Amino acid sequence: MSDLNVMLSANIVRMSSAVRWAFNWKEWNPSEREFEHATSCVQSDEKERLKRFVFRKDVRASLVGRLLMRKFVNEYAGLPYDKITFVRDENNRPVLKDNSTLVNFNVSHQGSYTVLAGEIKNVKIGVDVMTLEYNEGKNISEFFRLMNKHFSAAEWDEIGGSGKSGAEQMAMFFRHWALKESYVKALGVGVFVDLGSIDFRTNSKLSADSITTDTVLHVNGIKQDWLFEETLLDSRHCVAVALQENDNSLRLRSNTLFEIMNYDKLVAHAVPLFPIDPQYTIQYFAKYEQP
Ligand SMILES: CC(C)(COP(=O)(O)OP(=O)(O)OC[C@H]1O[C@@H](n2cnc3c(N)ncnc32)[C@H](O)[C@@H]1OP(=O)(O)O)[C@@H](O)C(=O)NCCC(=O)NCCS
Repeated sequence: MSDLNVMLSANIVRMSSAVRWAFNWKEWNPSEREFEHATSCVQSDEKERLKRFVFRKDVRASLVGRLLMRKFVNEYAGLPYDKITFVRDENNRPVLKDNSTLVNFNVSHQGSYTVLAGEIKNVKIGVDVMTLEYNEGKNISEFFRLMNKHFSAAEWDEIGGSGKSGAEQMAMFFRHWALKESYVKALGVGVFVDLGSIDFRTNSKLSADSITTDTVLHVNGIKQDWLFEETLLDSRHCVAVALQENDNSLRLRSNTLFEIMNYDKLVAHAVPLFPIDPQYTIQYFAKYEQP
């Protein structure tokens, strides 16, 4: 191989196939016009599903997920916006009806964010975003007791390690939770998994300006060839992306941080699929924001 060819192939390996987007829907207070436009750009079955949410926050969290998915498929699979159709598989995972494209993606929403992790390659992918704080009312030890069987003994050692404050324990708990969910979502198997047999060992702290990739997964004691990309979106949210490696290219490429997206960028190439629906918008604004 010539020097030029070596350089070119090294660059191709390093060129990222990854798309990582996050949208803070908690801070998005759409005007009526924005909401009408956004909801006219998602397919009708999803629009019907969104209508059934009781609170406005849940409508926005899920709506943003649909807009991120459409944006990703439009821009990276090259399908015209109004020709994209999503269906749900047997485990309720949204997938493209046209499965001839080489893109894979997954969406998660929690706390203030909806995130999308996408790959322009054939890889199993799952993503989970979690808030690092606990505010459900129960005290920490009671909460941990209820969660006991979902984590291995070694994971509990990491969560409750000596000298950790309650907040640090909760942050490590939710980091492990996000890892488990990202893996379960990449497998696409839904709730039928013994979470206690999924055993993660972390090796580095998370930060907002880098991607941690040295976390290791064992299932029933056997080390798995999966890559986990972890980062903080801000001081209150962690995110984990699970990727099944079928070659080494995922580890060799440069890692992609999550891009925090604004509304204008979210709908930049969105095309209305239906006329705007003022009645739908009135129903949304009549709901409470949250319980
Ligand atoms: C399906 C499941 C994976 C979703 O996870 P969640 O944390 O509740 O929700 P997230 O916000 O991360 O993800 C929701 C999105 O994932 C996607 N999704 C739905 N079902 C999915 C599946 N089976 N696999 C992958 N993605 C799925 C959808 O886009 C969904 O968004 P929508 O509801 O707006 O359409 C979850 O309900 C589940 O089955 N968990 C089992 C594992 C468990 O009990 N974990 C506890 C952790 S210790």
